[in-house]
Amino acid sequence: MSQQAASQHAAPADRPLLGVGILGAGPVTQAIHLPALARLQDILEVRHIMDVDAAVASSVAARVGATAGTSMAALLDDPAVDVVAICSPHQFHADQVIAACRAGKKAVLCEKPFAMNAEEAARISAVSAETGVPIVVGAMHTFDPGWLAAEQNWGDLPGQVHTIRSSIVLPPNARFEDFATEIVTRPAAGRPDYSDPDVIKSALRGGIMGLAIHDLPLVRRFTPDFTDLEVLQVFHVRPFGYAVSLRTPTRVIELRAVMNGTWKPQWTFEAIGDDAALHIDFTPSYVQAGSAVATLTRGNGSDTRTFGPYGHNGYEGEWRELAGLARGTRQAPAAQTLIDDLTFALAIADATAASAGAGHAGAAGKAGVTP
Ligand SMILES: NC(=O)c1ccc[n+]([C@@H]2O[C@H](COP(=O)([O-])OP(=O)(O)OC[C@H]3O[C@@H](n4cnc5c(N)ncnc54)[C@H](O)[C@@H]3O)[C@@H](O)[C@H]2O)c1
Repeated sequence: MSQQAASQHAAPADRPLLGVGILGAGPVTQAIHLPALARLQDILEVRHIMDVDAAVASSVAARVGATAGTSMAALLDDPAVDVVAICSPHQFHADQVIAACRAGKKAVLCEKPFAMNAEEAARISAVSAETGVPIVVGAMHTFDPGWLAAEQNWGDLPGQVHTIRSSIVLPPNARFEDFATEIVTRPAAGRPDYSDPDVIKSALRGGIMGLAIHDLPLVRRFTPDFTDLEVLQVFHVRPFGYAVSLRTPTRVIELRAVMNGTWKPQWTFEAIGDDAALHIDFTPSYVQAGSAVATLTRGNGSDTRTFGPYGHNGYEGEWRELAGLARGTRQAPAAQTLIDDLTFALAIADATAASAGAGHAGAAGKAGVTP
């Protein structure tokens, strides 16, 4: 039975289903969003899928009984579409978010990063304010119930933190994508030329804006003085990864990631203070197996509280948030928060790439590329 057919029986009469339109039907739509939406058929129904590749659009739309097309305008004109998800490559995000807001949709979900520079972010913010259309950015960890429970319970932790760490060990995305579904498209990737400094710079920038960005809104919650950012050390890790240490006048920030055949996948976030600490184990990207588990510790460890795992993850959390915003049962996040998160990410990405380009030696005397 198609998702559409199944869900027609699931919606309560007093709360009609919200129609979803998706721009870009690549691996993230297929392996992340459609499985998450399949669990939310009592509130959301996929009705229109657009991709510039007609074969991809029709094949993916057929899985969920949705209309397929190659035209963004047709999707935005479709009255069956209430909310729009933007899952195209990042360079199209800003213009597509703006078009969806101008089309008068009820809410917009944009995959990260929602813009690639401050000028794009400001344009989006202005259009969201003018049209009143709420925007959710697909930084799934900020919607994870494990993170949200920690936030409600961490008390004075943000004020006393001195060290913040995001550590990510994952297999390449394709491994997860293939487990999750039969992917009908995947762009061919050439072999990068690591002897070219510009390749290293752009890989580091891509690592921060593509992967670290999931945790950067979390890092920002514990970094009040980020305008004074200093890079201590930067390493590019092959085939894909980074080891970046930064400091502000009061915080040390460590961002580490490696994507290779390593077992086992691990994604941890830590914020360590003088008398308290937060440790979160997130489920890896793509994995739809419940929420993160957060542990808050005080003093010598005798006061330890654990939150999670809860039944749903951050991907489902994003869609629940979007549905609540579209129905007006949740309050829209301040556009300024999205801008500040992006400004923070861009500052770190720029500082990291610049340090790599300058052959940065940093305080620890370390810079470079791992073998
Ligand atoms: N949240 C997460 O865990 C997560 C993980 C990986 C990637 N992402 C993000 O999700 C987005 C999509 O990732 P992906 O791996 O599916 O990307 P992709 O580039 O592999 O696929 C995107 C799809 O968009 C289509 N497309 C290209 N130009 C388009 C346009 N102008 N309008 C509509 N469709 C267009 C392509 O044909 C392709 O089918 C990216 O922004 C990426 O950063 C998120």
